[in-house]
Amino acid sequence: MSNGDKVCLVTGASSGIGYAIADALRADGFQVVATARREDRLLQLQAPNVAILTGDLSDAIFQDKIETFVYEQFGRCDYLFNCAGTIATGTIEAIDIDKVTDMIQLNVTATFRLTYKLLKRFRQQGSGHVINISSILGTKVRPTAGAYAATKFAMEALSEALRMELTGSNIQVSCIEPGLVMTELHKDWEVHPKDGMGIHEPLSTGDIVATVKFIMQQPAHVRIPRLMILPKDHNI
Ligand SMILES: NC(=O)c1ccc[n+]([C@@H]2O[C@H](COP(=O)([O-])OP(=O)(O)OC[C@H]3O[C@@H](n4cnc5c(N)ncnc54)[C@H](OP(=O)(O)O)[C@@H]3O)[C@@H](O)[C@H]2O)c1
Repeated sequence: MSNGDKVCLVTGASSGIGYAIADALRADGFQVVATARREDRLLQLQAPNVAILTGDLSDAIFQDKIETFVYEQFGRCDYLFNCAGTIATGTIEAIDIDKVTDMIQLNVTATFRLTYKLLKRFRQQGSGHVINISSILGTKVRPTAGAYAATKFAMEALSEALRMELTGSNIQVSCIEPGLVMTELHKDWEVHPKDGMGIHEPLSTGDIVATVKFIMQQPAHVRIPRLMILPKDHNI
């Protein structure tokens, strides 16, 4: 199949990592379904090979709508990029618990449910690839990042179980585990983590796109279940 025959569903496509991935896939000629809440941002991806679907991924009805749209429009999906995500930080005792439950709803529940639904389709078509944007915080915990890390550990657990359950099939799952990437994720922070962590040159979204391309370019017999990517100053 050529790129033009392959369909990529990208969540969180309105900014940061998801936007960069959707933009790169668009430029490489894939059929891209880009989804997030901010339509004005999604419209910046507009192209003949990009379909835009605006809505709140935390809403199960919208997840169903995405699946229906992809399969009615294209009849298949080759890649699911789970990029939508948010971060809530603070000590476990003092963190805003409503922000935590919203974060779990998006980072965990929506990711699990959309993946679950697409996997059934992947089984029917006999192939498919889930690419999850996890985090280094899916592999280790830091004080004040426990709640966010819990959501990324959940993503890693889902992916590792899937890796084993999908053994021998043409369906695969990969987790990318970035350190600090310059996006809008930390835009409301009083102290940006690059200053808090002494990271002079954070990763760019282009670095993550290069990682995605590396994973996608592997031959059919190769699996990359996890791939960590860190800025050079990352020391914890
Ligand atoms: N930046 C980093 O340092 C870093 C490091 C490791 C991992 N990550 C992970 O990378 C992923 C992407 O984050 P980013 O850094 O690119 O941040 P970002 O620029 O803030 O992008 C987050 C994306 O998620 C979407 N989103 C948020 N809430 C949503 C909702 N309820 N429904 C639908 N879409 C929603 C946003 O779109 P709308 O607001 O338009 O809905 C946006 O497109 C996240 O899972 C994050 O945990 C980031």
